[in-house]
Amino acid sequence: MSDENHYIPHVAEITGIMQETTGERAVKTFKVAFKDKSAEIKFKPGQTCMVSVFGKGESMFAISQSPTRGSLEFSVQRVGRVTEMLHELEVGDEVGIRGPYGNGFPVEQWKGKNIYFIAGGIGMAPVRAVMNYVVDNKNDYGELHLIYGARTSRDLSFKAEIDALEQGGAIDVRRTIDVEEPGWTLLDNKNPEQSKFDPSSRKFTGFVATTVSAMKCSPDNALAVICGPPIMIKTSIGSLAKLGWKDEQIYTTLENKMKCGIGKCGRCNIGGVYVCVDGPVFTYAQVKKMLNDQ
Ligand SMILES: Cc1cc2nc3c(=O)[nH]c(=O)nc-3n(C[C@H](O)[C@H](O)[C@H](O)COP(=O)(O)OP(=O)(O)OC[C@H]3O[C@@H](n4cnc5c(N)ncnc54)[C@H](O)[C@@H]3O)c2cc1C
Ligand code: FES
Repeated sequence: MSDENHYIPHVAEITGIMQETTGERAVKTFKVAFKDKSAEIKFKPGQTCMVSVFGKGESMFAISQSPTRGSLEFSVQRVGRVTEMLHELEVGDEVGIRGPYGNGFPVEQWKGKNIYFIAGGIGMAPVRAVMNYVVDNKNDYGELHLIYGARTSRDLSFKAEIDALEQGGAIDVRRTIDVEEPGWTLLDNKNPEQSKFDPSSRKFTGFVATTVSAMKCSPDNALAVICGPPIMIKTSIGSLAKLGWKDEQIYTTLENKMKCGIGKCGRCNIGGVYVCVDGPVFTYAQVKKMLNDQ
């Protein structure tokens, strides 16, 4: 057995910061590089790391960039103590990183499938990693779709990157916001199935779940990746179910609170499952079973 202490983070320098959104719950993307090159990690889309502000605290974050893009990135929404301190850091400052943790998305099993990436808010962080991975291996996959929602257009992250993917024809992109803004096509949240869907429109006012219904996302030879706030995941799964999707075709990530990240403390477990080790990626069929077994 290795006598390495798994709780000791490796030191990394912040080499770039992108201000994705502003406001009370602003999002910043941090690009980091290990000081000691021998600490560099191999990771899969969907895996996570514990990121620490030295002497202050640490939190779990999805790795928000694909391993195919050659950089280690985390996209952090400011919600509390640790995330606030991370947002105060600047390029050249140091953070601690331990990981990668978790299972990641089973991208090898998905080859040949049409994929619907469905993201809400900061849920776009893990989705960005797996979406860019799939786009970078596009010949292995079928049609690609992104449905990405936020409260307002100012709350959408990764704007330039997603615009570039869309303009390059790599993926069909539909953006949704909750609050009406000029130029955004209004969908009917009360009667999602009756909402008139204009395929030429890329920007909608309506919930993510409404857009899923209005688009009539087809379950044929397809799978869906849904990440975001619990209510958005629940309602989007409901929309897919009405369109004939099976639980096994739907993947999501769970964000239970975590402390150790390595299956030791029991903070994250649901029944006999440790989300930090066995997840955070699960099919909806697995999530249902875990909740039943509790
Ligand atoms: C597997 C996993 C992946 C995650 N990926 C990301 C990511 O890519 N980007 C990102 O910004 N955040 C992500 N999170 C959530 C992130 O870990 C928390 O936002 C962070 O720990 C909050 O720390 P804090 O000290 O700033 O907040 P605190 O001061 O501890 O809490 C502030 C508020 O945030 C809530 N909160 C704290 N932890 C969580 C959590 N795990 N899930 C939901 N709400 C929480 C608290 O209930 C409280 O309302 C992820 C969490 C997990 C478990
Ligand atoms: S976070 Fe400690 S067991 Fe999962």
